[in-house]
Amino acid sequence: MAETADVVETVKQGYAFEGAAIELGALLAGDEPKPEAAVRIPLSMVNRHGLVAGATGTGKTKTLQLMAEQLSAAGVSVFAADIKGDLSGISQPGQESEKLLARTKTIGQEWTATGFPTEFYALGGQGAGVPIRATITSFGPVLLSKVLGLNDVQESSLGLIFHYADKHGLTLLDLKDLRAVITHLTSDEGKADLKDLGGLSAATAGVILRSLIGFADQGAEAFFGETEFDTADLMQQRDGKGVISLLELPNLQDRPALFSTFLMWLLADLFDDLPEVGDVDKPKLVFFFDEAHLLFNDASKAFLDSIAQTVRLIRSKGVGVFFVTQTPKDVPDAVLAQLGSRVQHQLRAHTPNDAKALKATVSTFPSSSYDLAEVLTQLGIGEAVVTVMNEKGAPTPVAWTRLRAPQSLMAPASAEQLAASVQASPNNAKYTEVIDRESAYEKLAAKVQAGAERAEAEQQTEGQAKPEPKPRAQKQEKSMVEQVVGSSAFKQFARSAGREIVRGLFGAARRKR
Ligand SMILES: Nc1ncnc2c1ncn2[C@@H]1O[C@H](COP(=O)(O)OP(=O)(O)OP(=O)(O)O)[C@@H](O)[C@H]1O
Ligand SMILES: [Mg+2]
Repeated sequence: MAETADVVETVKQGYAFEGAAIELGALLAGDEPKPEAAVRIPLSMVNRHGLVAGATGTGKTKTLQLMAEQLSAAGVSVFAADIKGDLSGISQPGQESEKLLARTKTIGQEWTATGFPTEFYALGGQGAGVPIRATITSFGPVLLSKVLGLNDVQESSLGLIFHYADKHGLTLLDLKDLRAVITHLTSDEGKADLKDLGGLSAATAGVILRSLIGFADQGAEAFFGETEFDTADLMQQRDGKGVISLLELPNLQDRPALFSTFLMWLLADLFDDLPEVGDVDKPKLVFFFDEAHLLFNDASKAFLDSIAQTVRLIRSKGVGVFFVTQTPKDVPDAVLAQLGSRVQHQLRAHTPNDAKALKATVSTFPSSSYDLAEVLTQLGIGEAVVTVMNEKGAPTPVAWTRLRAPQSLMAPASAEQLAASVQASPNNAKYTEVIDRESAYEKLAAKVQAGAERAEAEQQTEGQAKPEPKPRAQKQEKSMVEQVVGSSAFKQFARSAGREIVRGLFGAARRKR
């Protein structure tokens, strides 16, 4: 271990940035905080992404909170998933206490109780928040496969089904639209279309259909459909401060795959909509991905590739992404390699598995004078080992840091405060209304209905007059889709659909404006 004075000097110089920065805290050296050696992230490098890691209860969420506060104060919008509800307190001024002020004083933090402008969202309107919904078409086949737990073959089959629906103007808004299209493809009428698609077997289509039915039975209908959330609403400002959008996910454990995948959809949608901005003085939006392991667990290769690609490309659109999880090993290497800032809280070393994770974590840090395996197990709560990307894009010295305290409430906001905020939100009226416009389900149902009526009419005519020369069997074989395709309205629709549906990352469709 180097001399304390040397460590202080190294950190002081290593973190002396010219531009504005997010203050994380102060160096701890020789058992004392050193306020003169501040540890920070340059605001211009926040879009080079980051990782906040550590065992449970070591301070990850509070780190997220104190970063979000400073971003908001700097006019940067923030999005975060509020998994345990404990982030909702960011909307309220913090609670002063002697203990808190003793802590902030030692690290040179001037602490003032402050609340920040916050919007609360809830998936499908289930919970306290403005409802967030996505259409099936914009969600796309890759994300949906992840949610349904489909294997690679099933995933590419679902891709074919989307392709078919896109091509035939069968808009997929909600789960019943997708079920209707698959039901059609596996029906006698749809057989020929199924064959034309090539590579999609009736058996696989059946499996996907059953998994969709099971999914709907779990109450998933509410998450899909219109009014679809417009991610531009995440980029708000209020009184010069960036609005913090919190997706309240108190029951994450019920549907971890759905919730984490929804977060990825938001990111992919943002990516599609935002213009290139190149290097920026400060990001436009910072996206915090708490409990990130849920996103990566059991993910297909296509899914992981899409995440890595999104993270790589979204930086030049002025968006920073911070993953929050227990160990760096939860994050695939292709993503981890792109995370410029690292805030590593305490790790435990009780079990052989812990020891392995600890070793792996140490190997992902730049070399330093610390014995990291030792330090990482000794860190106190609210302390972390930090290294970030400096303004030149090089890693800063590794620093054992005591973090600042959030200035907002370190506990959940009350139910009344949440309800009042949702009530006052201009977004509430916009997204609360559920629309069910004509889409694949209605179209296919109408066709079936029209076909049945025609057949009935024909039967009646047959009864009165001579039978038609055309054999009925042949008519029945003509698929429902051929009939739809024949109509001029359909041709109109298909033309516009063919022009407008562009599938980007994750096969997610761009919203038509
Ligand atoms: N920067 C900080 N300043 C003051 N207190 C802190 C700080 N960080 C953590 N604490 C204290 O530690 C507690 C646990 O922190 P936090 O909830 O952030 O842990 P976590 O790592 O997110 O845990 P979990 O994995 O369970 O979500 C906080 O309630 C708070 O009392
Ligand atoms: Mg937490």
